[in-house]
Amino acid sequence: MNQRNNHRLVLFPLPFQGHINPMLQLAQILHDRGFSITVLHTDLNSPDPSSHPHFAFRSIGDGLGQSEASASDLVRLITLLNARCAAPFEERLREEVSSPDAPVTCLIADALFSFPRDVAERAGVRRMVLRTGGATSLRVFAGFRLLRERGYLPIEESRLEDPVPEFPPLRVKDLPRITGEPELLDRILNDMIEGIKDSSGLILNTFEDLEQPALSLLRQEDPIAVFPIGPFHKCGPSSSGSLLAEDRSCISWLDKQAPNSVVYVSFGSIASVNGSEFSEIALGLADSQQPFLWVIRPGSVSGSELLENLPGYFLEALEERGKIVKWAPQHEVLAHRAVGAFWTHNGWNSTLESISEGVPMICMPCFSDQTVNARFVSDVWRVGVNLNNGLERRKIAEAIRKLLVEKEGEEVRERAALFKEKASSCLMQGGSSFQSLDGLANHILSSES
Ligand code: UDX
Repeated sequence: MNQRNNHRLVLFPLPFQGHINPMLQLAQILHDRGFSITVLHTDLNSPDPSSHPHFAFRSIGDGLGQSEASASDLVRLITLLNARCAAPFEERLREEVSSPDAPVTCLIADALFSFPRDVAERAGVRRMVLRTGGATSLRVFAGFRLLRERGYLPIEESRLEDPVPEFPPLRVKDLPRITGEPELLDRILNDMIEGIKDSSGLILNTFEDLEQPALSLLRQEDPIAVFPIGPFHKCGPSSSGSLLAEDRSCISWLDKQAPNSVVYVSFGSIASVNGSEFSEIALGLADSQQPFLWVIRPGSVSGSELLENLPGYFLEALEERGKIVKWAPQHEVLAHRAVGAFWTHNGWNSTLESISEGVPMICMPCFSDQTVNARFVSDVWRVGVNLNNGLERRKIAEAIRKLLVEKEGEEVRERAALFKEKASSCLMQGGSSFQSLDGLANHILSSES
């Protein structure tokens, strides 16, 4: 074990919450296996070093102005990051390589960064890739060109219900929706796939029992080493990578609620809703008659809707059996015995965290991989229900009651419990993720690249 302290890994997360969390969790997993960890990071959304005192953190500077960094067009922002970070990243990596600290054994960069491919080669550093989303959605992204050629993309409203036989059971409406300039998006996706193909290996936050078909197709399509070692956050205790302060008062509130009675509502770190959707969510929660814990992130509601303007019966429900926070300690919330359902946007982290705790989901995907994840949750793993046709308070209340109290939700609850077991057993000695992690550690230490 200790001999690996002589082996330093340089990790480079994409600076968004849904990417920082899994990268820091991976860092912790590899640190627990004896590797030294250096995290290179941008100024944008820089992680808090005090939460991870055993890692070295080094800023590369990203040269982004404030207005550029706060742009809501993610395609443009990722393109800018790729343009601006390349030179400072190369300089920093070279400094790391020539520093008297332990030698850099491997660079692990987020799949959406394109420049580490050339930089690592020039610096003579072996490079692996972390893709923070699932294996299934990765295959869909890899198939974007084909999907365009066959006319599924861009999505036409008249074809939403058409099946996409290339990726069953997806329908056209389940294909990733990403706003931004198509040429820039194609470039990002193309670079991601090419960067994975000629890397020294792909690390995924997933597990065999969950995504076996996609994993085996990935392995067939590209003969690179694939390491599904998730769920990362269950591999051992890890510190929070939250960019916002976690409001822990919701845990003591949950302590007072009955087992499996609460619906937890959170749409991740990027998605937002408009004013009328916000009202429907509130009224659906009130109509469900169930206790609710609702994360309303600053900036996540566009429009002028305010809680105080909602009808009195919502405010009464909030006082009687509701709790609102700006940001929650989500792992702890999902693991709490009082939480019986998760109304989610199906970002990959949230989806996997819910599966790991056996919490059935109400799916409300917003963009990117979320639609793919949501379809698999409802139709393949059958651990949740999809809020398909827009936000409507009656349907919301029905979905919540189905998952929390009605007999009709029993099968979904049982399937969720089954997947919780699978997610836990894959991490035990001899389990698929445990073995894959052994393979990854040996792969990093092996001399061939
Ligand atoms: C983004 C994309 O939207 C998502 O589709 C992609 O798969 C990853 O990048 P995000 O929208 O933030 O991520 O969602 P998600 O992947 O679920 O990540 C959010 C993270 O924030 C989770 O790890 C979750 O535990 C954490 N979180 C969320 C909190 O800790 N507290 C909260 O209140 C809400």
